Amino acid sequence: MIGVFDSGLGGLSVLAALVEALPHSDFRYYADTAHVPYGNKSEAEIQRRVLAIGDELAGMGCHLLVVACNTATAAAVEALRSAHPGIPVVGVEPGIKPAAQASKSRLIAVLATESTARSARLHKLIRDHAANVEVHVEPCPGWATQVEMLQLDDPALASDARKRLEPLLARGVDRIVLGCTHYSFLAPVLRDVIRDRAELVDVADAVARQARRLATTPSAGHGRIHLHASAHPERLRAAFPRLHLHQLATRIA
Ligand code: DGL
Repeated sequence: MIGVFDSGLGGLSVLAALVEALPHSDFRYYADTAHVPYGNKSEAEIQRRVLAIGDELAGMGCHLLVVACNTATAAAVEALRSAHPGIPVVGVEPGIKPAAQASKSRLIAVLATESTARSARLHKLIRDHAANVEVHVEPCPGWATQVEMLQLDDPALASDARKRLEPLLARGVDRIVLGCTHYSFLAPVLRDVIRDRAELVDVADAVARQARRLATTPSAGHGRIHLHASAHPERLRAAFPRLHLHQLATRIA
């Protein structure tokens, strides 16, 4: 059983990739909907939630944990690893390295929550993997909440995306890293703004490959997904079709 968690719906974009990479595994997906969004919370608050969810998923028999949230990874993945030394933990970090390697203009941008944007972990990632590239970090307050409310077609969101991205594109940014798992569900809105001027970089498939490498019994399971939410569990199930996750919905236990 693989435990996957996020503050809410964003991690479902990672779960989709995990299911594709590990079709026979069973998953527990935990959405911390009583505390979403994480992006405007302190590192200490996020750590408390991550450790509590880690304990819960480990208690339910998960032998591998995937932190399907950039904000939680930046704030608490090391604390989670220390709390569960016997359980491999896979985190999600913005794809700075692939974006820096692929950029021709040597200008990349990362869209992230406020917490991730100011995190020491993101700035170390940039120092380590994008030393010869200019990296613009753009905090996007409110975007994760728009996804939680399933307001993906909100004109105000499209206009905020345009306001944030146009100046970056005008400067020649050619890779835009999705540094929050919720933003994968905003890809159509972002592509409408970007058109052919830049490429989006999402790491969900890379995270899934890493989980497959660490999964000890990848074929032991029935390909089922068990859902858990700290508030409004019915909304979690109902969100699958709205997020075009029809295939995934058929696996819900
Ligand atoms: N999905 C999360 C991330 O990847 C956090 C969004 C939020 O709760 O603010 O950063």
